[in-house]
Amino acid sequence: MTTDARKILVTSALPYANGPIHLGHLVEYIQTDIWVRFQKMRGHECYYVCADDAHGTPIMLRARQEGIEAQQLIDRMHAEHTKDFDDFLVDFDNYYTTHSDENREIINTIYKRLKADGHIDVRTVRQAYDPEAEMFLPDRFIKGTCPKCGADDQYGDNCEVCGATYAPTDLKNPRSAVSGATPIEKDSEQFFFKLADFQDFLQQWLDAGHTQAEIANKQKEWFEEGLQDWDISRNAPYWGFEIPDAPGKYFYVWMDAPMGYMASFQNLCDKKGLVFDDYWGPDSKTQLVHFIGKDIARFHTLFWPAVLHGAGFRTPSSVFCHGFLTVDGQKMSKSRGTFIMARTYLDNLNPEYLRYYYAAKLSSGVDDIDLNLEDFQQRVNSDLVGKYVNIASRASGFITKHFQGKLLSPLNDKKYMDGVNGAQFLIAESYEHREYAKAIRDIMKNADNINQYFDEKKPWLLAKDETRHDELHEVCSRTLHGFYFLSILLAPVLPATTKKAATELFGLDRNFIWDDLKTFPASINKFKPLMTRIEQESIDRIIETTKQHLAEQAAVTEKPPAGPLTDDPIADEIEFDDFAKVDLRIAKIVKAEHVEKADKLLQLTLDIGGETRKVFAGIKSAYAPEELVGKLTVMVANLKPRKMRFGLSEGMVLAAGPGGKDLWILNPDEGAQPGMKVK
Ligand code: 2FM
Ligand code: ZN
Repeated sequence: MTTDARKILVTSALPYANGPIHLGHLVEYIQTDIWVRFQKMRGHECYYVCADDAHGTPIMLRARQEGIEAQQLIDRMHAEHTKDFDDFLVDFDNYYTTHSDENREIINTIYKRLKADGHIDVRTVRQAYDPEAEMFLPDRFIKGTCPKCGADDQYGDNCEVCGATYAPTDLKNPRSAVSGATPIEKDSEQFFFKLADFQDFLQQWLDAGHTQAEIANKQKEWFEEGLQDWDISRNAPYWGFEIPDAPGKYFYVWMDAPMGYMASFQNLCDKKGLVFDDYWGPDSKTQLVHFIGKDIARFHTLFWPAVLHGAGFRTPSSVFCHGFLTVDGQKMSKSRGTFIMARTYLDNLNPEYLRYYYAAKLSSGVDDIDLNLEDFQQRVNSDLVGKYVNIASRASGFITKHFQGKLLSPLNDKKYMDGVNGAQFLIAESYEHREYAKAIRDIMKNADNINQYFDEKKPWLLAKDETRHDELHEVCSRTLHGFYFLSILLAPVLPATTKKAATELFGLDRNFIWDDLKTFPASINKFKPLMTRIEQESIDRIIETTKQHLAEQAAVTEKPPAGPLTDDPIADEIEFDDFAKVDLRIAKIVKAEHVEKADKLLQLTLDIGGETRKVFAGIKSAYAPEELVGKLTVMVANLKPRKMRFGLSEGMVLAAGPGGKDLWILNPDEGAQPGMKVK
């Protein structure tokens, strides 16, 4: 074993059971799978579980539309998803569904415990209701004319034409997407989880480094406004679990989704004889790691730890957030043919190409990653085919032909072994800390060195001279040791190719483990080609097929309770007219004060040329009040005054940065005068 063995349970977010897996999803599954494979290679006891997120109104309605039972729909999707993941070499220890007995039992337990401790409230809520279909309507199922631009057939929460966001009640001519009837408003009782009960706990949890600092900082901003209760129930008809003591009420899909992590693991425990409480009990010493997209960070770093803690379970050790995928620098788009489904890709290209390319781009941060198709082709061809695989194909022929496959051992060559150890240590650190791009850079640097060594030694000339065959043997052995070394280091990313190398070329009966770096093979078998180049036609076919899918409906999904995005992707385009409505003014900070009990806010008094405004700004982590007084900055002067927990905020100042100390107010040069309009 390379290091002290750890017990680790790893999850990726649960994909909805009403849509296919696409290349955007795969950023996460590939990122997680690489990490899990690395941990397993290192000898840790690591389990990777996931499941389909199988509940909710969209799934219920889609099944209805197809004239099948919801169960049939989720079974079909489960089979499709499982196949897509298998073919992308995403190796779950268990891939389950949230619609399972285990999950029903877990959510009932959690709900009962939260309720018994007073963390559940009942409140009357006014919601849109379809009188014909006799059901309450989620925002996405109300359609109508955009109140802003007049575009017809827009969703109840935002307009896809002009980008406006609004409440469903703002839509003109609203109608139910289910029956076409005009929705009415109706009261009903709903259950709420009192998140604010856990404010102190969450504050500590966020401060303890369980998630990236920029994500933690972002969440702490919610404390200033006061944590809001989360609506965890829905009325029948609903596809999900009925709440035990409330007939006709169901748990909202986002309530039982994360419990799907636990349920999938419970199911694995039953199959493998593992002890559930070792991993989820309050005293668990194991590592619990969630990989998620930054859009659901708020849910996983506030709601989820609070629920677990409130119900007497352990909380996550790490919530690792990643960014989104862009293709050729833009959001994935159906019309450009870049909204690529996993299956379309798999029909045309080797999954390991994408695994490699994503790895070469991924870091531990939350920046988006770009799949540039030209760069993808070029990089895979040059790195994997041109550099990595080529090493074995160049050197192995000499060894089989002249030395019966026997390799010289490098184990007594201290300098060489020190080099191997130094490099593997750094690369292991990079994998451990999810700095895959760095790992790949370092691995490829080694590949370059090996190729360069081979070129310099010109073994093809040595082979012609019988007297120099010892040298030939040495050069080719070293080169193949290099290939062996690279294969081990690449195994988390390229599990199929490296397994072929391990079994076919080096004669092992399994894929590599990290400890294989301590030994070297004494011989090789005849080399068989391991990988081929990406041809342009394959990429063209993928884009063409994707464009043909254009007509297919995008899957409708539901949002986490009250969950706006937690990160800052470039927002959807807006019209110039919308932008022109924002009145930005130069403001002079005439006073800056601490706000009692607020950790992040300062209250600023701003002079905007003959008028003063008081605003709250979440910049306390970056500025002391005295540094601010006298500075010029930029404010949104026509923002409707907002009532915050600490008083009224009459506008907003602009600041940029990831958060914490790294936050900067905009600071115009001297000469600008308070009140000037920013153009
Ligand atoms: O955003 C989504 O696709 C959700 N289905 C993720 C759920 S992850 C967790 F909450 F289980
Ligand atoms: Zn509009």
